[in-house]
Amino acid sequence: MADRYLSLINSPLGENLASWLKLPRPAALRRYGLGDPLLPGPLLLGGLGGGAASAPGAKGLRDLLVNAGVGVVEATAAGATWEPSTAWADADTDAKWSALVFDATAATSVADLALLRDFLAGGLRRLGASGRVVVLGRAPDGADPVQDATRQALDGIVRSLAKELRNGATANLVLLDTTEAGLAVVESAMRFLLSGRSAYVDGQVIRLGGAAVAAPADWSNPLQGKVAVVTGAARGIGASIATVLARDGAQVVAADLPMAGESLARVANRIGGTSLQLDISAADAPERMIHYANSRFGGVDIVIHNAGITRDKLLANMKPAQWDSVLAVNLETQLRINAALLQPGGLRSGGRVVCLASTSGIAGNRGQTNYAASKAGVIGMVRSFAQSFAERGATINAVAPGFIETEMTSAMPFATRETARRLNSLQQGGLPVDVAEAVCWLSWSASGGMNGQVLRVCGQNLVGA
Ligand code: NAI
Repeated sequence: MADRYLSLINSPLGENLASWLKLPRPAALRRYGLGDPLLPGPLLLGGLGGGAASAPGAKGLRDLLVNAGVGVVEATAAGATWEPSTAWADADTDAKWSALVFDATAATSVADLALLRDFLAGGLRRLGASGRVVVLGRAPDGADPVQDATRQALDGIVRSLAKELRNGATANLVLLDTTEAGLAVVESAMRFLLSGRSAYVDGQVIRLGGAAVAAPADWSNPLQGKVAVVTGAARGIGASIATVLARDGAQVVAADLPMAGESLARVANRIGGTSLQLDISAADAPERMIHYANSRFGGVDIVIHNAGITRDKLLANMKPAQWDSVLAVNLETQLRINAALLQPGGLRSGGRVVCLASTSGIAGNRGQTNYAASKAGVIGMVRSFAQSFAERGATINAVAPGFIETEMTSAMPFATRETARRLNSLQQGGLPVDVAEAVCWLSWSASGGMNGQVLRVCGQNLVGA
């Protein structure tokens, strides 16, 4: 359903009205279009001394950004202010930063945090529309209390800053678990977070670790040669996921219930994929899905568990059938299919599994004990499966959407819908494509640094979690 308020508030009349009545002013977000540059303008890069010596290090980070086509301007600390490099000082002084990136991987003391504050305070004054703030840090490791406190403090800075930003800008934190997470893993995260692909990902902490992975031959076609199965692909978020996976180069098998066969075929035809009519709750579904991909395409590399249902009722009024069906479709099918993917002849080495959870499974939601149980269960499932998938060079992660503009949410009562839409840092609902971009990014080989994690696509929900 269209967000009419968003369109109105971005018209000349709406802008005046909003400032007069102090109404929320959601901005039109920058979203990715095929061939778009990573950023529309320059990026200001800062870092702590010492970061250069460690991976990714200021130089490695600068080089990968430059190679990705970003106009990088380095800043150096001069007292409490950070001065852009001479190249930038000579440039058009009205120009805006498209992104502020700070390498805090070398942060060890509370005093280091003030350097980050100074860098951000200066840079934010010129951050453009849909700007990006990305801070890189290290995950606390128990080695030293002062260092761990400093590292954890980054979390509080970034999450709070994300709540302060306006005009479609976002802030996210990337934590490197170990030095083994190679540059391709960092590049993958930067390509996602800086681009319009991450439009509705805000206030999140992304941990990168595990073994180093190779960069794709072509970053604009990162899924080339991969076979992907998407469940619930006939409409909504699933159709969008299928579309984005195909755009990024995958051969897509779009699966859905036989009764959705017509729309399923339309989606498959539109993206040059194939359709598989399959009730994922059937006993033989895991076997049929794997057999189809193996016999048609020689294997399966990516599985997206998107199919899901709701049967909302207050717990006291919920019928056993409403409980059972939601747990069966949203959780038990995923458990069975994932177990089958780990068997010989299942997921190919280096495979990727992404499971749709929900912020309801993190924060809870009135009338959704069954749904929240299933989605929280999905989060527990990916954490538990992570090690087994890692052993075959594969990963399994969850994406938890917040309020997304779909048929499901357009059926909500007006007041509930309007509240859910505005109560996030971006003051609007996300679009199916925002979820699809996050799912697709986690499917890239170069995103192998994330495993067993939950990535929220919720515009930083302000209530609950
Ligand atoms: P939707 O209801 O529009 O589409 C779900 C699709 O799954 C349908 O095409 C349906 O036919 C298919 N499906 C249902 N049962 C199936 C089965 N047994 N076998 C095969 N296919 C089956 O849902 P929407 O909104 O696109 O959501 C997609 C996923 O995202 C779901 O897992 C949902 O829980 C999750 N999600 C959605 C949010 C939203 O705001 N729309 C928020 C949070 C999570």
